[in-house]
Amino acid sequence: MKIPQKINLAHLPTPLEVVRFRTSRNDRFRNSRNDSSAKEFLIKRDDYTGSDFLGNKIRKLEYLLYEAKREKADIIFTCGGDQSNHARATASAAAKLGIKTKLFLWGKDKKQADGNLFLNKMYGADITYLDRDEFENVDEIMTDERTKLIKKGKRVYVIPAGGSSTLGIWGYISFMNELKKQIDLKNIDGIFSACGSGGTAAGLLVGAALNKTKVKVYAVNVLHQKEFIRKKILQLAEGAVLDFKLSCKIDKSNLEIIDGYSSEGYKNITDGKLKLITKFSRSTGILFDPTYTGKAFCAYNDLILKKGKGKRVVFLHTGGIFGVFSKQKPYLKFV
Ligand SMILES: Cc1ncc(COP(=O)(O)O)c(C=O)c1O
Repeated sequence: MKIPQKINLAHLPTPLEVVRFRTSRNDRFRNSRNDSSAKEFLIKRDDYTGSDFLGNKIRKLEYLLYEAKREKADIIFTCGGDQSNHARATASAAAKLGIKTKLFLWGKDKKQADGNLFLNKMYGADITYLDRDEFENVDEIMTDERTKLIKKGKRVYVIPAGGSSTLGIWGYISFMNELKKQIDLKNIDGIFSACGSGGTAAGLLVGAALNKTKVKVYAVNVLHQKEFIRKKILQLAEGAVLDFKLSCKIDKSNLEIIDGYSSEGYKNITDGKLKLITKFSRSTGILFDPTYTGKAFCAYNDLILKKGKGKRVVFLHTGGIFGVFSKQKPYLKFV
């Protein structure tokens, strides 16, 4: 078994907390201890991995940027939506390491950039904007640009969307070792998380297999078609087992894709979901973003909390908070 090396960037371990969510009406000032409608559940706070590169992406970047440094890269390429948390975390972490970043983003430049786009500018990232069709070919576009820069003598390190490669997913393979120091894995049935490029879920699956636990991975699909993302997650997980000669077998039945919670589109969120996450933040002081964690939490509420299984299935808060600032208007409807 080959365990890859990493750079320490994230603030770890992140807390595993018990949260009480009061779900009754007119409950803002009620004492939750006496509120029979309150739901208790476990939340793993990966929104606490750091104030600037907060969220799940930095765990993957610890491995990817180690490799970039080893290869003496002087520029990092990566891609995502214009509010990509991964792009922002890359720009921030690369700035910390003194490496330039070029981002290929699906969207348009805005005079008054907000949320992650604003932060990318703060961190000095060079940005190329692509429309939806162009973004379909983003890997080719990055390869062409890389070839041009290599000819000029530059060393370019390319990180795929979401940092989801067999190396990047080590962020969540090693996460399982962190979690098992906080809770006996026998006491939980699953981990519930938002899913975009699939790397987080893939890492969790491998981590579960290496630890010989039946902990199920629930991946709330916000971006791709269900079958596509299931295949991608399994390919990443099995690819890591091969690449790193891991002595474990991926149990496909441990992966459940939760579909249908982003039918409004990746960049949108319904009023019903916003209402629930606004209520949640008032009840607990914890904020969810509109693209990933907000949708995942709505699924968790329907499928886990309503059935009273919150102490057995950990909700993974994967960050994304800066995305809130790009959707202030819709959020304000419920404030
Ligand atoms: C806040 C947040 N949560 C969850 C995810 C999904 O993670 P992954 O791309 O590893 O599936 C992402 C990124 O895509 C994200 O930015």
